[in-house]
Amino acid sequence: METVTVKIRPHAETFTAEEDAALRRAGSIIQSGGLVAFPTETVYGLGGDALNRESSRKIYAAKGRPSDNPLIVHICRLEDMEKITCRVPQEAFRVAEAFWPGPLTMILHKSGLVPTETTGGLDTVAVRFPSDKTAGKLIEYSGGYVAAPSANRSGRPSPTLAKYVAQDMDGRIDMIIDGGRVGIGLESTILDLTVSPPQILRPGYVTEEMLSRVLKEIDTDVTILGTDSGQAPRAPGMKYRHYAPKGELTIVEGCSDAVIQYINGQTAAKQEQGERTGVICTSESRPRYSADAVKCVGSRGDEESIARNLFSALREFDDECVTKIYAESFEAAGLGQAIMNRLLKAAGHRVVQV
Ligand code: TXA
Ligand code: MG
Repeated sequence: METVTVKIRPHAETFTAEEDAALRRAGSIIQSGGLVAFPTETVYGLGGDALNRESSRKIYAAKGRPSDNPLIVHICRLEDMEKITCRVPQEAFRVAEAFWPGPLTMILHKSGLVPTETTGGLDTVAVRFPSDKTAGKLIEYSGGYVAAPSANRSGRPSPTLAKYVAQDMDGRIDMIIDGGRVGIGLESTILDLTVSPPQILRPGYVTEEMLSRVLKEIDTDVTILGTDSGQAPRAPGMKYRHYAPKGELTIVEGCSDAVIQYINGQTAAKQEQGERTGVICTSESRPRYSADAVKCVGSRGDEESIARNLFSALREFDDECVTKIYAESFEAAGLGQAIMNRLLKAAGHRVVQV
């Protein structure tokens, strides 16, 4: 299959006639059962008609994803939530009012409209109303319900640029909408409202602290940062290895000087063994590293930049054939919880304390 790429100006709020025509074409591809990758404010999604079981099967096949791992249904109007859900608790409306459109996904009981192929066999459905205008228009032109996992091959870092979608999906899907670099860079927060109190299943840009402003009580899935709870994560997708670069990634924890010294010792030794080495660091420590590929993801004072650059740094190591990677560790509070959750998964929970 030939994959066509169309361009929309990054973060466009309104569309030129040409862009609108491209989005209409993309919508008709989805309505006729095809797949289109598109930008959202979090990461690129791989979209198909959420109400068409064949489209969901195609998404699993294109991603190489196990079919017990449910898809998120994207909407573009709040009133559409109630068509695909039932027994919606009051709290869901409060959360929607505070955070939609935006980087938050709610798990709710599903209605009969949504095929179980889309929900990985579950009787609940993940619903997200993205704030990105390109995503919104595409969803509207697609009929209102777009099932979209992140547009990476299963196990790879989620794409934050269209070129990474193309690396994974070229020849496997009908179209890629290139809307430039996404704003947030980590996937949406997932909040399960089918349990009481509501539970965070995946940390993201909308933090527990932000949610606690509209919810009296809130839980967090204990498996989010740990490996030793002995429990399976409640979001099926969180149990799989994820975000992994091709090289072996190790997170190094400790005080800053000790971390830098340890990483420099390791990279020097590995270089001697013929490995290509990489480091994920911050602007504060950047000049002190001597690995082959040193990726600065931002300043420690600016967690949003760290979130935005993390997945592309992991992808760049692959482009540069790096075989051993060391990452500094981050404070696991606020947005840092989402950053550490993704980094720990990318490292397969390989952490060294120094
Ligand atoms: O930001 C995002 O959420 C992006 C963009 C494209 O919207 N999408 C995304 O989708 O990250 P995906 O498929 O890569 O991750 C969805 C996660 C998986 O871990 C899946 O198991 C979980 O959501 N999930 C989906 N439906 C669920 C359900 N009914 N119950 C529990 N977890 C669910
Ligand atoms: Mg994903």
